[in-house]
Amino acid sequence: MILFVNACVRKESRTKRLANCLLKNLGDEIKEINLEKENILPLNCETLELRTKLAEAKNFENIIFDYAKDFAKADIIVIAAPFWDLSFPASLKSYIEAINIIGLTFDYTPDGIPYGLCNAKKLYYITTSGGKIYNNEYGFGYIKSLCNNFYGIKDVFCIKAENLDIAGVNVENILKTAEEKIMTEQFNL
Ligand SMILES: Cc1cc2nc3c(=O)[nH]c(=O)nc-3n(C[C@H](O)[C@H](O)[C@H](O)COP(=O)(O)O)c2cc1C
Repeated sequence: MILFVNACVRKESRTKRLANCLLKNLGDEIKEINLEKENILPLNCETLELRTKLAEAKNFENIIFDYAKDFAKADIIVIAAPFWDLSFPASLKSYIEAINIIGLTFDYTPDGIPYGLCNAKKLYYITTSGGKIYNNEYGFGYIKSLCNNFYGIKDVFCIKAENLDIAGVNVENILKTAEEKIMTEQFNL
């Protein structure tokens, strides 16, 4: 099963267009988590206390753990998120808070070293930006770091189309070039 985490916001999202191209190419059963519709709230005092209590008791029946369970069992994960404020929309950060559950998506060795509990071998991160992405650190880089250090997902690919809001650029050409790369599987690790 492919888990598609859709953090796209605009109706005419270019990021979503590239995600559609990739998903078509991957061609498997897809489960979509549309973050706009899910409206996952950031953790607060009450929800953090509840989930800490349940997770410590290894009681993962509550629906608050469903996002983490889906993430842990997916074969392939696709995240689509526009480049916002050098990073991605806050809905994706709330989703990350919801899936980072010790005992479901990762755990710690007795020495305090995190190790992954996720089934997926590959994660694709798709983004588009108005200008150039000079530093991957806060968008793709952050997701890659979570995958490598927490979830145990080794192959993390970045698919991006940049400069889409620069006056005079041919947006359609940039998107078509990105789609061709997707179809010929030219991804950056
Ligand atoms: C709230 C917001 C923040 C943005 N921040 C950046 C940014 O930091 N750097 C950048 O190059 N483009 C930025 N952009 C432009 C978007 O990255 C660009 O338009 C992107 O293609 C939007 O993706 P979409 O078509 O999937 O919605 C921002 C756009 C919005 C709406």
